[in-house]
Order: sequence, then C-alpha cells, then structure tokens
Amino acid sequence: MTALTRLPLYWRICLINGLVFLVGTVVLAASPATISTRVLVSEAIVLLVGLVLILFANALLIRSTLAPLERLTRLTESVDLQSPREQLSDDGHGTVARLFRGFNAMLDRLEAERSSSNAKALAAQEAERHRIAQELHDEVGQGLTAVLLGLKRATDRAPDDLADELRGVAEIARSSLDEVRDVARRLRPGVLDDLGLLSALAAACTDFSTHSGVHVRRGFAPGLPPLSAEKELVVYRVAQEALTNVARHALASTVTVSLSTQGDAVVLLVADDGVGIHGRAESTGIRGMRERARLVEGSLVVRTRIGGGTEVRLVVPTGTVTP
Ligand SMILES: Nc1ncnc2c1ncn2[C@@H]1O[C@H](COP(=O)(O)OP(=O)(O)O)[C@@H](O)[C@H]1O
Ligand SMILES: [Mg+2]
Repeated sequence: MTALTRLPLYWRICLINGLVFLVGTVVLAASPATISTRVLVSEAIVLLVGLVLILFANALLIRSTLAPLERLTRLTESVDLQSPREQLSDDGHGTVARLFRGFNAMLDRLEAERSSSNAKALAAQEAERHRIAQELHDEVGQGLTAVLLGLKRATDRAPDDLADELRGVAEIARSSLDEVRDVARRLRPGVLDDLGLLSALAAACTDFSTHSGVHVRRGFAPGLPPLSAEKELVVYRVAQEALTNVARHALASTVTVSLSTQGDAVVLLVADDGVGIHGRAESTGIRGMRERARLVEGSLVVRTRIGGGTEVRLVVPTGTVTP
C-alpha cells in the first residue's frame, strides 16, 4: 500500500484503471455469458450492468486517490495567513504530500518575506520619526528659543504697558516650545537613549496620566536585565500603543504598567480595569504591536482579564542565555 501511495499520481490512476479493466475482462472471460452477432436485449442488459459496475468501481477508487487533493484545495482556500503552518500538514509520500510540502515551503517564504518587509517598514518609520523629531527640536525648538530670548530683551527695554503685552506673547511662545518638545519626545523617545527604558516609560506614564485622567500604577522590578536599543524601543512602543488603547477604548480608571523578568526574558504588562477587549477585531494598533514583538523574537498576548479589563503582555527575550 505504501509503495502504491509513493507512486506519482498519474501512474496511480493508470494502475487503478488497468486493474478495473483487468478485473472486468477476467469476469467477462470466466462467465458463461455469450454475445450474439445481433445483440439481444438480455445480453445488452448484462453488458450495461457490467459497464456500470466498472465505471462505479473506477470512480470510487479514483475519488479516494484524489481525496487528499480535495483536502489541500479546501485548506489553501481557508488557510489563515497569520499562522499558516498550523493548518497544513501531511506526512505521507507521493505527489499530494509533495504538493503539501511545496505549499508549506511557499508559505514559509511568504512569511519570511512579510516579516522582512514589515521590519523594513518599521525601521523606515522609526528613522523618519527620528528625523522629524530632530528637526522639530533643532529648527523649530531653537527658533522659538531665540524668539523667547529676543522677547525677554525687548521686554526689559519696553515701557510698562508694552512690556505686559510682550510677556503675554512670550508666554504663548513658551507653551508652543513645550508642545514642540512634547511632540518631538513622543515621536522619538530621546530619553530612551539618554536615561534608558525605565525613565522613558515613567515619563510616558506620567504624560498619559496627565492627558487621560486615568490613574497609572507603575511597577518596575529592580535589577532588570539590560535590553538592546532595538528591544527597548519595542517595549516602549508597545507600552505607548497599549496606553493609547486604554485612553481610547477601555473606559478605565486605573492602569498598571509593569516590567518584570521571567527566565531570560523581560515581561511588559499593561493591564487596565476597563470594559475588556472581548475578542474585538484587531486593527493596525494591535497588529503593529505584534509585528514589533516578532521583530525581536518576542510574543504578545492581548486578552480580557479574569476580573474584567484588558491586559497586554509582551515577552521579550533578553538574548543572553542564563547558565
Ligand atoms: N484596552 C482596551 N480596552 C478595550 N478595548 C480595547 C482595548 N484595546 C483595544 N481594544 C479594542 O480592540 C480594537 C483594536 O485595537 P487596535 O488594533 O489598537 O485598533 P484601534 O485602536 O485603531 O481601534 C479597538 O478598536 C477596541 O475595540
Ligand atoms: Mg489602537
């Protein structure tokens, strides 16, 4: 039987057909039936029944041979491209198994291609943010600082009524400068480079709490292993998106942001006490988090917590193997 399944599909069908015709011929030769020169009705009936039996046996055998192809067709139509490998498996031999393996290899290549273009897109996005943040800081920020200094000098020399007006203008310029710095910081967490992940996360939490009114409980475990700059950026961006989602969707009053270690991995947990996600369709935000996690071989789970609310859990391997 294994030898038969190893045969190419074409030869298997030829063999089945040959076998069915052989059996038909043998039965015909061994039976006492005769056929007159002018076929009688009774003989025609016997011939017809024989033919139907042969066709039926042939169809049945070919159908079972082609069944795996049917299965493959159905699978290719319904395969989930987010996790393709879980769904296609055939450990057999022969043409169909080869087709399965070829299809799986193609899915793998597709997945690798998708991952690498996602990585490129994210890297390009980060580079662009970096550039805009730098320009905001250097061009707009320094311009506004110069305006402020000029206004201060002018205020010192101006008569009282004009000085008051100039102070008002200086106030507007100062708050614009703060906003520009804020935008630049959100675009590119410079503090990540200067002070590290914990300070950047703490600043993001404070910022989030001020703007959203949601109370943030921070829990950063001491002695966290160091992460590469790329991994720190992933943790930071995931926390940023998770907090944005809390503000936009959760209707929460408190959110916990914690960093801890688990084996040789760092775990970021953003858990709110809001309405919960309840299997709502993922959109660009959560998919982006997932892609970022995948970039650093991490994993991301977003789910409704047992007591209500949503939790986002990111696990990032540190990359240093503990003995
Ligand atoms: N913390 C949360 N609480 C409740 N629902 C959430 C939360 N985070 C995400 N969701 C739900 O999941 C959906 C997908 O989130 P996301 O992929 O970030 O897309 P977006 O924020 O652009 O809608 C949201 O539209 C929302 O319905
Ligand atoms: Mg979102």
